[in-house]
Amino acid sequence: MNISKVAVIGAGLMGSGIALVAAMSGFEVALRDVDQSVLDKAMAMAKKALDRAAEKGKLSTEQAEAALGRLTPCTDLKEALAGAQYVIEAVPERLELKKQVFAELDRLAEPEAILATNTSELSIASIAAATSTPERVIGTHWFFPPQIMKLIEVVKGGQTSPATLETTLRFCTDLGKETVVCADAQGFITSRAISVLIAECLRIHQEGIASIEDIDKAMRLGFNHPIGPFQLVDMSGVDVVFHALEGLSQEYGERFNPTQEMAKLVEGKNLGRKTGKGFYDYGGK
Ligand SMILES: NC(=O)c1ccc[n+]([C@@H]2O[C@H](COP(=O)([O-])OP(=O)(O)OC[C@H]3O[C@@H](n4cnc5c(N)ncnc54)[C@H](O)[C@@H]3O)[C@@H](O)[C@H]2O)c1
Repeated sequence: MNISKVAVIGAGLMGSGIALVAAMSGFEVALRDVDQSVLDKAMAMAKKALDRAAEKGKLSTEQAEAALGRLTPCTDLKEALAGAQYVIEAVPERLELKKQVFAELDRLAEPEAILATNTSELSIASIAAATSTPERVIGTHWFFPPQIMKLIEVVKGGQTSPATLETTLRFCTDLGKETVVCADAQGFITSRAISVLIAECLRIHQEGIASIEDIDKAMRLGFNHPIGPFQLVDMSGVDVVFHALEGLSQEYGERFNPTQEMAKLVEGKNLGRKTGKGFYDYGGK
């Protein structure tokens, strides 16, 4: 299948970046959100990023303008999906919401279009079950920020067809990304592996063995991690990681259990950078 138009559903942190990468790679992109102000913010971010790339000489001014011209924001789902051969969903990580979106995609997307989800850990099969065509549903797990991170983790649902996988791998290469392929097990490779490290670091702190600052420093300088696990949790949202750990612990056992200390932060709405305080204090929002 030849892909010329991509529809990205959800223009938040991830969707806005994914849409920009696709536009910069030469695809026509429809970026759809239910919230017009989110679309305005996404378009302003794209313009700023493209201007900066042109200033730095990474793109010519004409190329930057053309990339921005390929990006069309819209609130109408039908309009976004018309003529799109590849659809990437990036709405919040709630199974019921994803199923609702996929039921709509099943109804309104082009019959041949591939339907990809950017879920970080939910089952591809349960999302695909909301459609009548699970063979065209696949996971494409991007990383933040999408413009910078090289990897897309491609997740095969139980019924994902070989053609869907093959087209997806080719599409990811056309986007300038590297891929790994993974079966549909909760947390895939990356969310499962990083979560167990986070859970262990939470316990090292709760047991009084080392400070948050020193655990982060140890991971940065000892293992060349770009940021420490507590900094990562604060960046992703303490609540988001807490719920992910709970889900993984139900699936794989207590090695993923979050700590009481983390539960207290969630209860107190100290959710990391977005609220101004999490494991670290950012001095307000
Ligand atoms: N944030 C990360 O670092 C990260 C990394 C990898 C994967 N993910 C995954 O990407 C997905 C999106 O995460 P995010 O951080 O971008 O979330 P976000 O909250 O920043 O953005 C989600 C957007 O979806 C919109 N939305 C809600 N319902 C919609 C609908 N029916 N149609 C269209 N838009 C709708 C919201 O208005 C919001 O703008 C989640 O599944 C998340 O697990 C996130």
